[in-house]
Amino acid sequence: MTTTPDETKPTEAVTAEVSPHDSMAAATARRYGTPDMIRIEQLPVPTPKDGEVLVRVETSSLNALDWHFLTGTPYLLRLTNGLRRPKRVIPGADFAGVVISAAADVTDFEPGDWVFGETAGGGCSRYITAKAEVIAAIPEGVSFEAAGATPVAGLTALQALRTHAKLCDGERVLINGAAGGVGTFAVQIAKALGAHVTAVCSTSKVDMVRALGADRVIDYSKENFTELDERFDVIMDNVGNHTTADCLKVMTTDARYVLISGPKENKWLDPMRKVLGSAIVLWRKPQSFHQFVASPNREDLDYLGSLLASRAVVPEVDRVVGLEGVAAGIAEIGTGHARSKIVVVPTSPEQRARR
Ligand SMILES: NC(=O)c1ccc[n+]([C@@H]2O[C@H](COP(=O)([O-])OP(=O)(O)OC[C@H]3O[C@@H](n4cnc5c(N)ncnc54)[C@H](OP(=O)(O)O)[C@@H]3O)[C@@H](O)[C@H]2O)c1
Repeated sequence: MTTTPDETKPTEAVTAEVSPHDSMAAATARRYGTPDMIRIEQLPVPTPKDGEVLVRVETSSLNALDWHFLTGTPYLLRLTNGLRRPKRVIPGADFAGVVISAAADVTDFEPGDWVFGETAGGGCSRYITAKAEVIAAIPEGVSFEAAGATPVAGLTALQALRTHAKLCDGERVLINGAAGGVGTFAVQIAKALGAHVTAVCSTSKVDMVRALGADRVIDYSKENFTELDERFDVIMDNVGNHTTADCLKVMTTDARYVLISGPKENKWLDPMRKVLGSAIVLWRKPQSFHQFVASPNREDLDYLGSLLASRAVVPEVDRVVGLEGVAAGIAEIGTGHARSKIVVVPTSPEQRARR
């Protein structure tokens, strides 16, 4: 299902809406485990530190990284997120919302501004704090739904294609895993950059991916892209399910292979095994190998905002859920076959009914 963005701005006043002892609803997982452990709790509203703003979250969205933080896999992730219990207890790295207050040293945003970006605090809650220097203003005409669906998936697609692959007008790009959060942004961004796009997905998602603008859609249950009789300047691989040697067969001599992810069978080492294997196969080959972890920055968010405002990119949203729908959404992502984006509106069903 594609939802139509709501272009109207909220009318309620922003000032003085939060006092120090207020609480908020948040989806939480206090132990590593499975999505059924997710609960809805009342937590204190966070206080912005130096360089931060307090944001009332209007929308967040779910990403594969929420599955990783919930399950604590790969296990190496626990070195930074807590060995026995997760430090990051609220899912939702994406947010779009309204600035409520800002630390004294923040000069670029003020209460009432519409902003979007990434937060480590967890967007599946009513309020978050975020570092002002890596968030951006939501352009006029862009809905909270569109902005909240964009940060992690949009930044990953943009940085893969523009920053790493340096995709140029007229080049041929193949996007493997075109139907998920990252892939649905990648197809549209590649088209906006002027490329000819071949997109790979499963049967039930072919029509959706074609409607996003892909020039050619390959149903992976019927055709193996590594056996095509053609060559690509860029392969953006969101799945990593083919050997890198096989992918090489369909690359031009100066192609760029951008690996976003790999199989996740080994809970200690994946997807690093695929990354290392690809680096070895492409070592000393004319084709270049790129692997990266997408990072938030205002310049890229502003660029994504301009694509949203011009509607060159319209986030594909499978559904909008409340906090009570977060567990099922993350479980779906855990299957490896999620469809586009799941947007979260972090209010109760009663609050949503009143709006
Ligand atoms: N490096 C980074 O900074 C970074 C950032 C974000 C995400 N990631 C990683 O990138 C991957 C993609 O992220 P995402 O947000 O798009 O995940 P997602 O929303 O869960 O989507 C995954 C997609 O993979 C597709 N897929 C599964 N098997 C496939 C196959 N054999 N061939 C083609 N497509 C297949 C699925 O489509 P079908 O249902 O059609 O099979 C699904 O739509 C995840 O593994 C994530 O962890 C990395």
